[in-house]
Amino acid sequence: ELSSARHAFITGGASGIGLGIADALAERGLSVTVADINRQSLDSVIASRGAGFCGVSLDVRDRKAWAAAKATSEDTFGPVDILVNNAGIGFNGRDVVDMDPETFDNLVAIDLTGVFNGVSAFGGDMRARGYGHIVNTASVMGLTAGAPGRGAYSAAKSAVIALSEALRSEMAPHGVGVSVLCPGLVMSNLDRNTTELGGQVEDVSHIKGTGNIGMEPATAGAYVVRGIAQNLPYIVTHPHYLDYVEKRMESIRASVDASTPIP
Ligand code: NAI
Repeated sequence: ELSSARHAFITGGASGIGLGIADALAERGLSVTVADINRQSLDSVIASRGAGFCGVSLDVRDRKAWAAAKATSEDTFGPVDILVNNAGIGFNGRDVVDMDPETFDNLVAIDLTGVFNGVSAFGGDMRARGYGHIVNTASVMGLTAGAPGRGAYSAAKSAVIALSEALRSEMAPHGVGVSVLCPGLVMSNLDRNTTELGGQVEDVSHIKGTGNIGMEPATAGAYVVRGIAQNLPYIVTHPHYLDYVEKRMESIRASVDASTPIP
């Protein structure tokens, strides 16, 4: 279905993974609407890309703004065939009990509800047209959630995976594909942007300094293109993390086996 797609709409598309996806889809001949809260990044992306790019200001938390962004993008490039709900902020390394409630709410509003808002804005049209693909960006931290200091982030990303799985089964009969992107470490501006947007970030330099260098966003973009072309349910860019997912399943099974009979 990628071959007949013409227009992709990508949130958080002005930086990092979103921009990697935007460039990869543009390379396949699609027109791209890049939607982002950061006007400066948007302007520089639009200035450096060709006429196939359109930039719209959008805060994914703002439902009214979604309607306006949709209208602008469709006036420019026609109906949206591929929606990528990718905008997000990172985690702050605080234990769940120490996290201030506003930070928690904000993270969920952007990383989870922002995805729902995108589906809500575009999904009905896609279903009615019987054509399209939705990619939601989660994380490996949504597939495996045990690491300390990432509780809220993992909770939001796990929920994005769950939402995407439900959406996939609901949309399949209508010819709309759904994939959930679960990346490991990718080189991006996530730390800087998270701080600028009022969040706090964990210092992950110790991870970056151990040879576990993040993937280039262009590579993540290539994974997404392949994932859309094959309508993969999960787009996993760092397969070694699947060991943790298996450990989680083992732990679930062990919990069942170890239980004494219910009286
Ligand atoms: P980034 O910070 O380079 O790009 C994110 C973009 O989203 C920025 O341009 C930012 O302005 C925009 N954004 C943030 N809040 C927004 C809002 N409320 N409305 C609209 N736009 C907003 O970061 P990156 O790493 O490219 O992040 C993209 C997605 O990938 C996020 O959902 C992140 O959680 C996820 N991710 C990133 C990983 C990494 O290692 N970089 C690993 C796994 C997942």
